[in-house]
Amino acid sequence: MKDKFDLLVVNGEVITERDSEKLDVGIRDARVVALSPSLKGNSDRVIDAAGKLVFPGFIDAHTHMGIPIMNTYSSDDFESGSVAAAFGSVTTIIDFTVQEKGQTLADSVAVRIDKARKSHVDYALHVNITDQPEKRLDEIPAIIADGFTSFKVFSTYRQAGMMITWDEFRKVLQQVNAHGGLLCLHAEDNDLVETLTAEHLAAGRKAAIFHARSRTAEAEAKAITRAAEIAGELGASLYIVHVSSQAGLETGLNARARGVNIYLETCPQYLVLTEECYRRENGHRWITTPPLRTQQDCEALWQALADDQIDVVATDHCPFTIQQKDASRGAFHLTPNGLPGVEALFPLLYTYGVAHGRVTLPQLVRLLAKRPAEIFGLYPQKGTIQIGADADLVIWDPNAEEAIAAKHLHGKADWSPYEGMPIAGKLEYTILRGQVLVQGDEFVGQEVRGVERRVAKR
Ligand code: URP
Ligand code: ZN
Ligand code: ZN
Repeated sequence: MKDKFDLLVVNGEVITERDSEKLDVGIRDARVVALSPSLKGNSDRVIDAAGKLVFPGFIDAHTHMGIPIMNTYSSDDFESGSVAAAFGSVTTIIDFTVQEKGQTLADSVAVRIDKARKSHVDYALHVNITDQPEKRLDEIPAIIADGFTSFKVFSTYRQAGMMITWDEFRKVLQQVNAHGGLLCLHAEDNDLVETLTAEHLAAGRKAAIFHARSRTAEAEAKAITRAAEIAGELGASLYIVHVSSQAGLETGLNARARGVNIYLETCPQYLVLTEECYRRENGHRWITTPPLRTQQDCEALWQALADDQIDVVATDHCPFTIQQKDASRGAFHLTPNGLPGVEALFPLLYTYGVAHGRVTLPQLVRLLAKRPAEIFGLYPQKGTIQIGADADLVIWDPNAEEAIAAKHLHGKADWSPYEGMPIAGKLEYTILRGQVLVQGDEFVGQEVRGVERRVAKR
């Protein structure tokens, strides 16, 4: 008897974390149920992917939809941000809770889940701990048991009331690790950042470039050093978000060489943009934290990707409109920090990574799919194409050429930090659990809702 499928994707070059092979993909009940060079069967729908690359749906492990920053909110909510994600080949986002003053972690999770329900792609949450960390220690085991196993703290942003001290960091890390969770850290040495910021402001140096001169690579490396020391002493695992500099990278790699189980994430902005953006006419729009660095830093990060030393590339998607950015023009310390990225993640990494010969296709799949899925407990349901996995697929035409243009993007930011950058290919389909979200230039997933992902402890 012939197999019956809901969807067949035929004749495509299927790329996994290991290799690439011309395979047909059979999908039934939202899962991949057959993979073979030539699938025979009936299907409700067939997509011919001849000449195209078929990837697992990508995971953006670091997004901030609609979060409060500097008296405003990042401009994408889960609805608009998830449409942008789908057009960016991303089928799962991992966003963050926002802990209000005095709020329990459980309440912060509940509030955020409620907002995330609007998402058209699947989603999970990292649990931010920004208020009274010591008071929250006892809540951590129940949050992990409930399926929220990754937490995030900041070693900076004191004035915004979000910073954790190193003593508090030690206690949170110990508790999260002891109960099978993973702690993520935004690593910048706050004392150094505050000292440099105060110096520049006192001297009237408020232009965008002084954002980079205040939040230096040294500040990043210093915080990673301290965090890795503590993780080493505790024997705890640690995930460093958005590593931006060669100094930060080398500090993380040195800690790993000493036996610390440290995961490293970087973002596309630290690979393809430099601090020269801050010298542009509207340079303040590129303000993000940590800041953009030098070409040498970009090259060091690319090399680390090629050498499999970085685990994950995610975006830190935190967009603001031109109006939001321009409201504080000329005052770097008042500009809402963050950049749009979720729609550009895969096109940039494919173009400037794979097409430029810096990383291979399987490496790309590891960085944007397999490793984030593994580290955050979603593998092998997510992050790969194999029998039993969710049928999250991306079909990419490697023969097309495009350039990034804000007017064609789908988030609410009305500009792109990557405007005009050539892209070596074009998205044809994004498929979430067997349902087509994007077909060509059209979003056809209005009726599709993302599913919340909870995971078992490590
Ligand atoms: O500037 C950024 N990246 N804003 C989002 C919050 C953070 O620090 O990740
Ligand atoms: Zn951060
Ligand atoms: Zn972030």
